[in-house]
Amino acid sequence: MAERRVNGHRAMRLSGGMGVPGDKSISHRILVLGSMARGTSFAKGVPDGLDIDATIRCLQGLGVRCQRVADAVSIDGLGRKRYRKPDAPLDCGGSATTMRLLLGAVAGRGAETTLRGTPSLCKRPMDRVIEPLRLMGAVFEAAEGNRAPVTVRPPEGLTPVDYLLPIPSSQVKTALILAGLNVPKGRTVVRGALGSRDHTERLIPQMGGSLVVSKDKIIVERSDLQAVAFNVPGDPSAAAFFAAGAALLESSRVEIRSVSTNPTRMGFFEALSWMGGDVSIVDDRDASNEPRGTITVRQAKLRAIEIHAEAVPFLVDEAPLLMLLATAAEGETVIHGISELRLKETDRINCAVEGLTRLGAVMAVDGDTVRIQGPTRLKGAILDPWGDHRMSMMFTLAGLAASGDTTVLGVDCEAKSFPGFYASLERLLK
Ligand code: S3P
Repeated sequence: MAERRVNGHRAMRLSGGMGVPGDKSISHRILVLGSMARGTSFAKGVPDGLDIDATIRCLQGLGVRCQRVADAVSIDGLGRKRYRKPDAPLDCGGSATTMRLLLGAVAGRGAETTLRGTPSLCKRPMDRVIEPLRLMGAVFEAAEGNRAPVTVRPPEGLTPVDYLLPIPSSQVKTALILAGLNVPKGRTVVRGALGSRDHTERLIPQMGGSLVVSKDKIIVERSDLQAVAFNVPGDPSAAAFFAAGAALLESSRVEIRSVSTNPTRMGFFEALSWMGGDVSIVDDRDASNEPRGTITVRQAKLRAIEIHAEAVPFLVDEAPLLMLLATAAEGETVIHGISELRLKETDRINCAVEGLTRLGAVMAVDGDTVRIQGPTRLKGAILDPWGDHRMSMMFTLAGLAASGDTTVLGVDCEAKSFPGFYASLERLLK
């Protein structure tokens, strides 16, 4: 198991300009929607990393020509044709986005398909997509508790549903929309907890699909999508690590270029500003439907804030980083509505509490609320991110902010989303 020593003794700062890998969420969606379109789509800036590799591999298993060409991915869409029946179970690796999105897509236009994944993925809930897709007529066989491996048997034609989303999950919303795009007759309506990342809703109209978003619902109908050429902006969830480092380490200033500034992804940066962080965002001029810009963060004195449950979907992947920032902020930071964090690659609440407490943080969890007292002087320790990429990267930054030596165990898990993370960090460390 690879481990990394982080030495917080030196007076270190982060300084410089950088780019981050392309956005993972947008990339998964372009790949899957591209596979349904007429013509060949090109997506530039699709990130390396195991999760995106899993989506590419699964689409290939479904009979889609989809390959990396230099720094782009080309996807030969099937148009009206259905996905073929794979010769073997499709391996989603550790990527829940791959599995949940493909369950929706295959239910709408596939043949019998089994999706499997890593032991970590097999623990994650799939009932959130299986249940509504069953209402549309798809038949599922899954391991106990509706978990992976999952076999989906698509019917001849799905029937539309009017579905009230119980949780603000973009993966669930997207799975239903992908199925809805392939319902032969009628409108699929998705209502309820719609406040989550909206990349799918932005992409489909751009590809000529019929999708209408209003205040309280999304309506989608069968459509012939057209291929797109798309330049994927940088991933704000990757940018957030460097922003957090710059906010924490004395005299730092980091400029991250061409990052997605989609409002549904900006929760972390907004929270950092509320905490008194020095964040400036300059939007790029870009014709695409996905805004992007340059984000500059400088070190600043932070104060505690309270984050309400409705804001959490817009910073869900960055919540552990906010817990780290809260250890440096004056007062009690409270984050409500974080229960979804228990259902990620690992239980990120327990993992963050265990790790940050070892460093000396003062924090407590009460139901789905976490309270962190600050400021605390963190002191180096041995930290175990439990195989979770985002926890490993957060702990590395925590180690930089702490005095003394910190060892982060099992850091190779960064390959899931950000294979070059440590090299990028080294370049900025001065
Ligand atoms: C994602 C949505 C989020 C997020 C995940 C990626 C997506 O999950 O945590 O990393 O691409 O749709 P939920 O939608 O389940 O909250």
